[in-house]
Amino acid sequence: MTLLQWKPAYSLAIPAVDLEHREMIGLINECYERMGSDADTAAIERFLGEIHAGIAAHFALEEQLMLRSNYPEYGAHKEDHEDLLDQIRDFMDRFDEDREAGLRLLQQRLADWFGRHFATFDARLHDRIHT
Ligand SMILES: [Fe+2]
Ligand SMILES: [Fe+2]
Repeated sequence: MTLLQWKPAYSLAIPAVDLEHREMIGLINECYERMGSDADTAAIERFLGEIHAGIAAHFALEEQLMLRSNYPEYGAHKEDHEDLLDQIRDFMDRFDEDREAGLRLLQQRLADWFGRHFATFDARLHDRIHT
């Protein structure tokens, strides 16, 4: 069961960034699959911790890139990253309390977030910065 699908429109034509974005989509899909299966909660929680760390590392890399280039939209872009990291933490708490509710939250909010962020903030960033 796939939650998020890579689209050609997400491509920023920077292979290293595209690869990381694909990996993030892959992790979210894997998480969604595990949550729907009867995998135990502790294992899923560990996996969520890894996702959070992986995504935080990707964001840090983009933020460094923006700082180095004096990118004017740095503040708003970073804020959107922080919003997602908050959402992942909310999602981890929700999942702890109620697995079904956690699954719905992942379906509704996180999937939307990725599509929107890739197509807006990241697209604008990589339009200006060519690495
Ligand atoms: Fe990104
Ligand atoms: Fe970004």
